[in-house]
Amino acid sequence: MKTLVILVLLFSLYVYTLCEKRCPSTICDDIKVKCQAVECSEGFVEIIVPELCRCCPYCYKLINGGGNCSNPWETVCANGYKCNIKGVCESSCTLRHH
Ligand SMILES: *[C@@H]1O[C@H](CO)[C@@H](O)[C@H](O)[C@H]1NC(C)=O
Repeated sequence: MKTLVILVLLFSLYVYTLCEKRCPSTICDDIKVKCQAVECSEGFVEIIVPELCRCCPYCYKLINGGGNCSNPWETVCANGYKCNIKGVCESSCTLRHH
């Protein structure tokens, strides 16, 4: 029984970690890094995501609304969307009803 509780806790932690913002968005402000040039294929965007503690641009796959963004290290939601806890890009504007 105790083992089950621990397993459930570990799993929750794992799920939480997937959506967690690891670093503050200002983390790169004071850091000078030498970055390698990146070249993204079509459908990918080159951006810096300080929240992932990455101060260099990487290619992220652009995901549209309803798409799978469960891997924050490789995907990013299109403009106006954000990755929800289920790993799906949902409209970030909660006031819109249509
Ligand atoms: C998204 O893709 C991952 C890996 O392919 C998969 O494990 C996960 O179930 C998918 N999530 C959704 C919401 O489709």
